[in-house]
Amino acid sequence: MNFNKKIKMGTCYEQRADRTRFIIDEDYKIKQEMIETIKNLNMKKSEEDQKIFQKQTTIDLPPDNNKPPASQAKPAQNTENVIGRNRLKLTQEYDPEGQLGVGGYGQVYLVRHKKMNLLRAMKVIPVKSKTSGEKTEEEIELLKQLDHPNIVKLFEYFSDNDKYYLITEYCKGGDLFDLIKKKKKFSELSAAYIMFQIFRALNYCHNTHHLVHRDIKPENIVVFRKNNVMEDLYDVKLIDFGISKIFNKVEKNNDNRIKGSLNYIAPEVLDGKYNEKCDIWSCGVILYILVIGEYPFVGRNKSEIIKKIKKGDYSFPNGFIEKSSSDIRELIGKCLMVNPKERISANDALNHSFFNLYDANEFFIHVTPAFLNKTINNIKKYETKNSLQELCLTYFVHNYPNQDDIILINKVFSKFNTSNTGKLTKEELKKGLLKYLFKGKKSKAAAEKEANTIFNKLDGNNNNGIECEEFVRAGIDKKLIKNKKVLKFMFDFLDKDRNGEISFEELKEVFNREDGNNAESEKNIIELMKSIDTDLNGQISFEEFYNMMLKLIDGLI
Ligand SMILES: Nc1ncnc2c1ncn2[C@@H]1O[C@H](COP(=O)(O)OP(=O)(O)O)[C@@H](O)[C@H]1O
Ligand SMILES: [Mg+2]
Repeated sequence: MNFNKKIKMGTCYEQRADRTRFIIDEDYKIKQEMIETIKNLNMKKSEEDQKIFQKQTTIDLPPDNNKPPASQAKPAQNTENVIGRNRLKLTQEYDPEGQLGVGGYGQVYLVRHKKMNLLRAMKVIPVKSKTSGEKTEEEIELLKQLDHPNIVKLFEYFSDNDKYYLITEYCKGGDLFDLIKKKKKFSELSAAYIMFQIFRALNYCHNTHHLVHRDIKPENIVVFRKNNVMEDLYDVKLIDFGISKIFNKVEKNNDNRIKGSLNYIAPEVLDGKYNEKCDIWSCGVILYILVIGEYPFVGRNKSEIIKKIKKGDYSFPNGFIEKSSSDIRELIGKCLMVNPKERISANDALNHSFFNLYDANEFFIHVTPAFLNKTINNIKKYETKNSLQELCLTYFVHNYPNQDDIILINKVFSKFNTSNTGKLTKEELKKGLLKYLFKGKKSKAAAEKEANTIFNKLDGNNNNGIECEEFVRAGIDKKLIKNKKVLKFMFDFLDKDRNGEISFEELKEVFNREDGNNAESEKNIIELMKSIDTDLNGQISFEEFYNMMLKLIDGLI
């Protein structure tokens, strides 16, 4: 398959130009019938029609020329350093496998990493102008800073004269829109499980990065696996930060262009003055859809829908009140408050009684005491000799987010990080150790001592909090990395020009971030080279790299 090939979709294309998708064979036929039905229904133009669950296109208005300010949160140095532009040609690294979706901004393909045989998603974004190129660069910079188990990871990117190719984690369960379409309705438990993850991801975006997503909808939530303990628990991640924006908490966001997707858009966004609370409104709409199977705000046309949104005019269908919990109705109501000041925050939503019904903090992020213990022991043993080893471990955990062990360590992290900020504080660590590991007399003092040791070891970038990947790289069983193929994968990442050796310039490139913060000094890089380059030829060969990593791994297992 050619990456640039246009997909022939006939009438389907005309009907759904706003959300063209990869449709094949019988699937194509079924969807076409569905479109016909929707078309016929639309002609009736009744209020009922608007309830039909259809993919929403992000409203496309002129590009925003106001460059957002740089992130106020200090970025996680290590995660950011393992995501870079790949200098090779896209086809040298990846084989196309199919198409995953077409959204408002680009096409998304399924691709296979040739050497590692890894399936990944690739978003192709056309660069139509200098502004759209800058916008994509901004999206990349933003994604590089996000380190959260419920946000899809960016691995690397390619670019040529007219396109960017963003290689991200592939979530094989498809998007939540298609899942809703298939399942129609979810149980309260199932909806709670999904929404808990979305609120956690949003709390991280809002509080840690001062970032508002602005396009929260089922099409932008993907399923990465089905929890195999119970039938309908889906692990999900947030995608598509295409129109997200850093907001300033003090000065209100004054972006008067309407952005979002109509059925999920908050009333204040329609007036052009909003902040992070607009994402919470969209969560309220999604929660409503999950358990009711219809949109809360319906009307015969756009302006009627807008009117209802502005008034917060929605109701629960007949019979729903009797068969639902008062907690879910209350949470929906708190998300759909017209006044954003009265609307619940992501953090308060996570502590709402709806999630307490299921003991979400225990049950939704469950790990066995034995696994928790093993992770803490690995962290206690964790010790690297140099920043390159640290970077390589981060590269590994970043590139294998769906490895079973890594998913579980993410859960250990989440269990400790009770504030759901994505940054583990010393106090949280101490409380967690006390709760899960230390029993009996003197346990308080012991937990405190352990928390201090772990904290000093892990808070590498000294920004007063341990980030998820910092925690995971220390907590994983290092046996997982004792594999020549995986170590070659790391080496290739450092050997930017793939000439078989890592040069001083290449090391400088991975350690120096574009904004110049937290860079390793040239002196340190020279020292680092000297300590690895045993044959003193001024380059690091794979053998030298392999020996250095093996020494580290063997010392830690
Ligand atoms: N990582 C992924 N895994 C699986 N499907 C994906 C992934 N990323 C995107 N998709 C699919 O592609 C669609 C469009 O992707 P998105 O990033 O939202 O692009 P756009 O900005 O054009 O809306 C999504 O709605 C989803 O169906
Ligand atoms: Mg999208």
